[in-house]
This record gives sequence, C-alpha cells and structure tokens, in this order.
Amino acid sequence: MRKIEHLGIAVKDLKASNQLFKKLLGKEHYKEEEVGGEGVMTSFFQVGETKIELLEATRPDSPIAKYLEQKSEGIHHIAFDVEDIHAEVERLIAEGFEILNETPKAGADNKLVVFLHPKSTNGVLVELCQERK
Ligand code: CO
Repeated sequence: MRKIEHLGIAVKDLKASNQLFKKLLGKEHYKEEEVGGEGVMTSFFQVGETKIELLEATRPDSPIAKYLEQKSEGIHHIAFDVEDIHAEVERLIAEGFEILNETPKAGADNKLVVFLHPKSTNGVLVELCQERK
C-alpha cells in the first residue's frame, strides 16, 4: 500500500457538509460524483496528496444510510492507494483478512475498489483503491 488515498466521511446532508468542509479546508471540493451501485453521492476535496470523500446516501438501502442509522456522522472508511489491487487482495486473503468483494468494483473518482470487513481490521472499514487505467 502506497499512501492513504482518501478518508471517507459519512454525512447526512452533503450540501451542508460541502459548506462546512469548504470553511474547514479553505477550498472548494473539486468534484461531486454519484456511485449508483452503492447508493451514494460523493464529494471530493483535495488535501495535499490525500483526499476527503464526503458520502451521502441516495436511497434508504444504501450502506451509508445503514451506517448513519446504526452509528452517526463521522469517519466511515480509510482508503489506501495500491498499485495492483488483484495482487493486494490475494496477499490480504493469505494473511487471513476477510474481503467483502474479492472482485474489484467501480468506485468514485476513476477507481477500482475492494473493501475489507471491519471485523478483521479492528473495526475500521478499509478500502483498497487502484487508479483505473
Ligand atoms: Co472511498
């Protein structure tokens, strides 16, 4: 894993949170993008080499909607940038981690993504992401 690519933050109201993070970071987000398959609308802020990804649910069965129901707004996942997502998945399976989707899926911001089950990572939802070429 090469760096923290982004931190995902679950929010109830993306518009309000865009304003909040604009004030916090002193800059505008650089894009909003819907990920239909996940039922989320995302908003990205660049912070140095890393990004903040705000996540709002777009439907009640969205993983973000369920997360907000059970927990609250806050850090939802940590995403690590990887060079070869297939090789990383194999390595992590061999190390005993539980992978939620072994086949990488399309994520926001031109990425292939895989999630690890939080129960195998100290309660932290981990995302692996590889730039799509
Ligand atoms: Co993410």
